[in-house]
Amino acid sequence: PAAPAALTVHADQPGAIINRDIFGQFAEHLGRGIYDGVWVGKESKIPNVRGIRSDVVNALRAIKVPVLRWPGGCFADEYHWRSGVGPATKRVTTVNTNWAGAVEPNTFGTDEFMDFAAQIGSEAYLSVNVGSGTVEEASDWLGYMTSIAPATAAKQRAANGHAAPYKVKYLGLGNEMWGCGGPYTPEEYVTKMKIFAHFVHNQNPDQAPPPIDFAVIAKDLMSGKPMDGLPRNPNGMLRIAAGPNSADPAYTEVIMKAWKAKSPIYWDIDGISLHQYTWGTMPFNEPATGFGEQNYAVVLKQTMAMERTIALHSATMDKYDPKKHVALVVDEWGVWLKPNAGTEPMYLQQQQSLRDGIAAAMNLNIFARHADRVRMTNIAQMVNVLQAMIQTDGSKMVLTPTYHIYKMYVPFQDATLLPITYTGGEYRVGTIALPQVDAIAARAKDGKVWLSLINLDPNNAVDFAGGVQGVSATSAVGEVLSAERVDSINSFDAPSAVRPKPVSFKASGGTLVLKLPPKSVTIVRLDP
Ligand code: AHR
Repeated sequence: PAAPAALTVHADQPGAIINRDIFGQFAEHLGRGIYDGVWVGKESKIPNVRGIRSDVVNALRAIKVPVLRWPGGCFADEYHWRSGVGPATKRVTTVNTNWAGAVEPNTFGTDEFMDFAAQIGSEAYLSVNVGSGTVEEASDWLGYMTSIAPATAAKQRAANGHAAPYKVKYLGLGNEMWGCGGPYTPEEYVTKMKIFAHFVHNQNPDQAPPPIDFAVIAKDLMSGKPMDGLPRNPNGMLRIAAGPNSADPAYTEVIMKAWKAKSPIYWDIDGISLHQYTWGTMPFNEPATGFGEQNYAVVLKQTMAMERTIALHSATMDKYDPKKHVALVVDEWGVWLKPNAGTEPMYLQQQQSLRDGIAAAMNLNIFARHADRVRMTNIAQMVNVLQAMIQTDGSKMVLTPTYHIYKMYVPFQDATLLPITYTGGEYRVGTIALPQVDAIAARAKDGKVWLSLINLDPNNAVDFAGGVQGVSATSAVGEVLSAERVDSINSFDAPSAVRPKPVSFKASGGTLVLKLPPKSVTIVRLDP
């Protein structure tokens, strides 16, 4: 295939901020995602801080997890928070009906989650139980987390070890209400969701809305000026409605229509969630290891569907919200592959290869390109489940290719998207045609320009023969992730088969020429 001739960064046309929350994570009470993966208990021989394993915390700190969604997923709409607070000996044992009927000891509850989020330096995204819970239960949960004395809930929290109110940055109003979250039509969900959005308050004084100035409101009312909503606290909690399944437009249409017609005094939302997984040739059965080029190309081709799905929902949202007040939040995504042999299939424990790391990078580039509408995403999931960052086995831990991708993308957190153009070739396997290259550019917070360059082609390197135009650069320094084969994995025995290696390029004759190895992700900083 023809190699791309040149790449131009339009550094003079800055785009949207790539919200750091686009690099968010998701951790559910599912299989070994929490128990073993995060929580080992205070008495464990595995080094831990208050029961939370330190190796996992240290690894996650290095990828600067901006936000963490918890406790589900399907688990959230059957979760009753009171089972998971108070003295360890008094915790209630329940059954995880969604995930293999596993025993749920509730030893990891609200305070342990908040401790974990603080240890890794992440904000909290809580999913409340809308499917089978009550508004009162959800409201009490927020009261427990965010109220201050003399409220009894605040005293209860203090007695459990945390006097200060927690910060809850995001509140998820249910999960997959068209599936495990309940058999709700979009209209039924909106009726329910509005009540949760109205009554579930964050009482943390740092997040409370500013006091209402009745004089201003009265003036607006008298002048007939349409109200855009009550005054906001920039630190205030953002409410995310449960949204569509992949490209199904129904939820987006109905929620956005209701949002447009709402009275902002009574309810509001800040985002709609979208779930889209990459299944490969067959849901739950796509080989995670030992596959060839065909399966590689199928998964990458499907990954590209994320771009179409986001464009579809964004277009619906634009109809009702051209100013993009409401974010599209892709709070579940990733490759969903065949479970590891010998494991409980409903624990969703799968291997992960170079291919899946490349798929993660492609998705991150898609989210960045849509950063004006997509302001948070949460890959499924953080540890031991689906496209995890980390896998554990007893005291052992291994970092997956996807972990390395997230680490390489740290400079893109809160960077400003810069448009780029390039002429790329085509990578073709049988009837599957893919672009050979996928790329984004952004100006990081320190003013430096960074590029992400993916060479999807597993057989040919790519040279940007014409070099990089549009920014003055004499060198490019960064890392490249590739491996021997498309299905190379990191295992406990060989943890570094897929790992980033340093890379640098120098300008020659005034032109910076970049070389991308086959099946690779290259992240470089351009230096003048
Ligand atoms: O991430 C695994 C599951 O996938 C989640 O619990 C659910 O929301 C989705 O169907």
